[in-house]
Amino acid sequence: NLTLRELQSCYIYQVACSFNSCKCNGWKSQNPPPTPPRTDQQSNTLCELCDHVTHLENVSEEEMNRLLGIVLDVEYLYTCVHKEEDADTKQVYFSLFKLLRKSILLMGKPMLEAQDSPPFEKPSIEQGVNNFVQYKFSHLPSKERQTIMELAKMFLNQINYWQLETPSQRRQRVPNDDAAGYKANYTRWLCYCNVPQFCDSLPRYETTQIFGRTLLRSVFTVMRKQLLEQARQEKDKLPPEKRTLILTHFPKFLSMLEEEVYSHSSPIWSQDFLAGASGGQIPIHTECHPPPDNSEYFLLLLHILTVGEKRKPSEPLTQEENKRPRVVGDIPMDLINEVMATIADPAAIPETSLLSAHSARDEAARLEERRGVIEFHVIGNSLNQKPNKRILMWLVGLQNVFSHQLPRMPKEYITRLVFDPKHKTLSLIKDGRVIGGICFRMFPSQGFTEIVFCAVTSNEQVKGYGTHLMNHLKEYHIKHEILNFLTYADEYAIGYFKKQGFSKDIKVPKAKYVGYIKDYEGATLMGCELNPSIPYTEFSVIIKKQKEIIKKLIERKQAQIRKVYPGLSCFKEGVRQIPIESIPGIRETGWKPMGKGKELKDPDQLYSSLKTILQHVKSHQNAWPFMEPVKKTEAPGYYQVIRFPMDLKTMSERLKSRYYTTRKLFMADMQRIFTNCREYNPPESEYYKCANLLEKFFYTKIKEAGLIEK
Ligand code: ACO
Repeated sequence: NLTLRELQSCYIYQVACSFNSCKCNGWKSQNPPPTPPRTDQQSNTLCELCDHVTHLENVSEEEMNRLLGIVLDVEYLYTCVHKEEDADTKQVYFSLFKLLRKSILLMGKPMLEAQDSPPFEKPSIEQGVNNFVQYKFSHLPSKERQTIMELAKMFLNQINYWQLETPSQRRQRVPNDDAAGYKANYTRWLCYCNVPQFCDSLPRYETTQIFGRTLLRSVFTVMRKQLLEQARQEKDKLPPEKRTLILTHFPKFLSMLEEEVYSHSSPIWSQDFLAGASGGQIPIHTECHPPPDNSEYFLLLLHILTVGEKRKPSEPLTQEENKRPRVVGDIPMDLINEVMATIADPAAIPETSLLSAHSARDEAARLEERRGVIEFHVIGNSLNQKPNKRILMWLVGLQNVFSHQLPRMPKEYITRLVFDPKHKTLSLIKDGRVIGGICFRMFPSQGFTEIVFCAVTSNEQVKGYGTHLMNHLKEYHIKHEILNFLTYADEYAIGYFKKQGFSKDIKVPKAKYVGYIKDYEGATLMGCELNPSIPYTEFSVIIKKQKEIIKKLIERKQAQIRKVYPGLSCFKEGVRQIPIESIPGIRETGWKPMGKGKELKDPDQLYSSLKTILQHVKSHQNAWPFMEPVKKTEAPGYYQVIRFPMDLKTMSERLKSRYYTTRKLFMADMQRIFTNCREYNPPESEYYKCANLLEKFFYTKIKEAGLIEK
């Protein structure tokens, strides 16, 4: 004749009961029973127990519910302990099981008796990622920055629901890692983040708020690989116009973040990062919503990214949105959009079809990187930071690769430089092993970096790794604003360096590097000047895409032409040059002779006309902002926004070297100056006004010279 309340009390009492006469075999025992108590046994127990529930009679309904909540969690953990196969995880489940049981017994709140309590590391992952967005993207216009922040938010949310690998899985995958450190973090994560997700009675914390860089480092590589894999699997479900975002921008975001996560000197992990940062803070907080099934993850990401964007997802770019006046020779944006819609995004093309005989040198390596088969890390030894075992192992691996591949270099010398804190090495990792690298020393004040050793292990050569390594190194340097490489290439490597854009014609003034760079006998000094507008690791994909677009544009043009003329045979007969207008059918293609303005045929005449115009422009009172290339120090992030910089000094040099063989080339460069200025600066700025006034003046001058119609 027990009331419901008494029944509940009895149930709790099973745990709380300390009477010797009590026969309940539930949670009183130190070890969980192999099977739950049987019903017949239980009813007997309840009858025996009903005398002992008096102490629960005055307990409030709320407290009763709380205790029952813990009972449910205990039951759940009991199942977990039995089902779990991993010894470390099982042990934690069992400790939590005991803890909860004890708190029912004492009718108290479950308190983890750990020596340390959260947060376990500062700054937290959340703060670090926040700093990263601030550090790398604060220069972007607010719309783009918003998109980045959403990417960051989704990334943080994903970490909060990420299933960490068990310490034993990790030991197998990364044998040389700090196993004890990982296990400690894994235990903390289970107790404070993971188990509380299904056991409400335990206080729950977000992984990104109580852990810092150490945990992030241990999950990042695997996580990045899986996220990118998911993205690729779901690419068909993504709207085409968002594919680039997910398949290109998101991986890029992760790559940039990865660099900061593994770098020894990244400022984003500094406690006082924001104190020194300029501009407003952009706090990104994680949300407590679990991500949906993997299959829907990127669709959700997409949804979030689309919120806040003014343009509807399906709307293509328009000329107005581009906010740049048309430049001579530009193809209408509508046509580009139309053609773009018909070509496949190289990032989305199935991998096998990319690897044709015409594939770029680094294509295979890039695909392997995307699939997570290979990884790139800039690493180095540090005197003021605790050595990280994994990094030290990689450095030893690099020392081995360099020693084998550069047999003429003394091994001790290689060791000294690889482990010298002033040198860094971009390392190429495959299956957790080093297979290549480029050891370098940066001289930021001198504006160059010296490449000291560069090698790929024998059985991995000529697969494109060397090229991809160099491309990564170039991007790393653009980020660090060093735009010149110097190296002493040994005679067998000259070919390789030439293919990477190096030449014997050194652009860095001698005074800048003599005494800094190590001199090697019998080797050739080679240099490479970087162009900050080029995304080197993606360069061949971009070129491929541009080629596709041009091919399609040509096909379209061809389709409009009905008549096909036979090819020209005059050249075979020894004719060296013919007037363009004499080519049969040329006018039908849309070509027009220079009617509107006068194209000066005499190169000297053209040169002197352009020289006069340029001199006028340079002496104009509004020309001062455009006299020289924009300095990065004065305009942060300028070269990320402006892909084709131009200035009057560069134009003068081009003119001098007779680069302007047509007035169109000259006008396009000049126009670029004004367009760039208006793109980077707000309309109310002085620079913007200068661009407008100078542009007007330029067109007056060019008309006066008869180069365009009045
Ligand atoms: N001579 C001429 N061309 C070469 C050489 C060479 N020694 N090595 C590679 N190439 C070419 C390749 O054929 C390829 O060209 P292709 O695409 O037109 O066929 C291109 O250079 C790039 O090839 P990758 O596959 O990207 O480069 P790889 O992964 O083979 O790495 C490297 C090149 C690092 C030079 C490698 O061959 C190596 O480790 N060699 C031995 C060590 C060495 O000589 N290092 C340079 C010493 S100088 C210094 O360290 C500063």
